[in-house]
Amino acid sequence: MKIAVLNGSPKGEVSVTVQYVKFIQKKFPGHEFELINVAHDILKLEKDNQAFLQAIETVKGSDGVIWAFPLYVFLVASQYKRFIEMVFERGVTSAFEGKYACALSTSIHFFDHTAHSYIHGICDDLGMKFIESFSADMDDIFVDDKRRILTKWAGDFLQAIKNQAPTSKSYAPLKCSSFAYKPGKTIKPVDTGGIKIRVLADMDEKSNIANMVDRFRKSFKQDIEVFNLRDIDMKGGCLGCLQCAFDNVCVYRDKDGFMEFFNSGSDSDVTVFAGAIKDRFLSSRIKMFWDRSFFNGHIPTRIGKQVGFIVSGPLSQLANLQEIMLGQAEMSEANLAGVITDESGDSSTIDALLDDFAVKCVDYSQQKYIRPSTFLGVGGHKLFRDQIWSRLRFPFDADFRFYESHGMFDFPQNDTRYLEFSGQMVKMIQDPKMREMVRKMIKTEMLKGYQKVVETK
Ligand SMILES: Cc1cc2nc3c(=O)[nH]c(=O)nc-3n(C[C@H](O)[C@H](O)[C@H](O)COP(=O)(O)O)c2cc1C
Repeated sequence: MKIAVLNGSPKGEVSVTVQYVKFIQKKFPGHEFELINVAHDILKLEKDNQAFLQAIETVKGSDGVIWAFPLYVFLVASQYKRFIEMVFERGVTSAFEGKYACALSTSIHFFDHTAHSYIHGICDDLGMKFIESFSADMDDIFVDDKRRILTKWAGDFLQAIKNQAPTSKSYAPLKCSSFAYKPGKTIKPVDTGGIKIRVLADMDEKSNIANMVDRFRKSFKQDIEVFNLRDIDMKGGCLGCLQCAFDNVCVYRDKDGFMEFFNSGSDSDVTVFAGAIKDRFLSSRIKMFWDRSFFNGHIPTRIGKQVGFIVSGPLSQLANLQEIMLGQAEMSEANLAGVITDESGDSSTIDALLDDFAVKCVDYSQQKYIRPSTFLGVGGHKLFRDQIWSRLRFPFDADFRFYESHGMFDFPQNDTRYLEFSGQMVKMIQDPKMREMVRKMIKTEMLKGYQKVVETK
């Protein structure tokens, strides 16, 4: 059989993910695997439609497609996202329709589930027959049993194609609206009180998103910063070259204006991303901005600040994207101040939401209001902390210095208060009588400290 492999690594074949593909290829020599470096070659594919169509022909001539990609900032790399956009924009979805598909990623498992959910959704939108995702840790290939599982997964995929196995969809098609938002007049603009607000938008003139951003701008008495990301000098997506890892300096530093632009926003109190939904995410341009921000490694870049989103499109149908938005805010140690969409289909409601959002941006900034993180931020922090302490210690030297100097290596073995208490209690309950007594008291005793706070604070 012929298998088209859509390689999502910006590094092309100098890629960890491709080693997994090559391993599979070696285990199944009876099949042809054709690798298409769509992320690495994206600039060429964008400019040269013949080259793009050639890639699409490979898909068309295949019996199955492997979406093989590294995780990049909660999703796939912006270049891969752009390729997906082009498939829809250039009207070649029929090449994918009815093809068997699966997804293979390598990563450190940070938000791998959201990337896989995205790709699976795209496959469903393309009318592909999706078999299964495989999210490998980037180092799984070194472990015998992990290689066995990988081989089994790949074998099952090939077998499913051979048997023409039945498949079902996991994601319903998105219902989009053609509603045109007409902003009303601002009645009571908010005083920013010196709070610095920066909007980073990807927008067409006169689009809903442009009108929403404009209305948001007019919700304030003073001027706020609004940038169209299309005007920001970004020569390309993150290359994954890791040249930034020692000192947080991007390899593009002298080639484009991204780093300078990003750093110029470091004193913003509020950052709002604005854009229209494109497929099942925001645009690849916004994703490029996020990926390029990786020159900061795993360092949270908006500690104690506010972030928000202004979105045009069916966000309420995209739980995955909503999770990414919250995860993004929490991982940058910011507060998600609001997410405003045009989904109500009613201009005055959108005006009211934008006004309310403007008030919250100022109030939350002034009050230093940061809601506690959910599992996304709490779990994500622990994952990064452990990785930077050990496996990613090299090459992420700048991360290590930052984590160390900011008390982010908050390992539980240093938590003496709980360790001592638990140690004493565990010792105590080894005595059967004490064990029984503690068992009876645990519910009420546990509450005492909390009750004291309620009474005294
Ligand atoms: C810019 C960038 C962003 C990344 N983002 C994530 C991420 O969000 N989650 C994760 O688990 N790993 C992330 N990684 C790690 C890569 O997914 C991982 O190293 C992968 O194996 C690289 O594969 P490749 O060599 O095929 O490109 C990121 C790496 C880079 C360079």
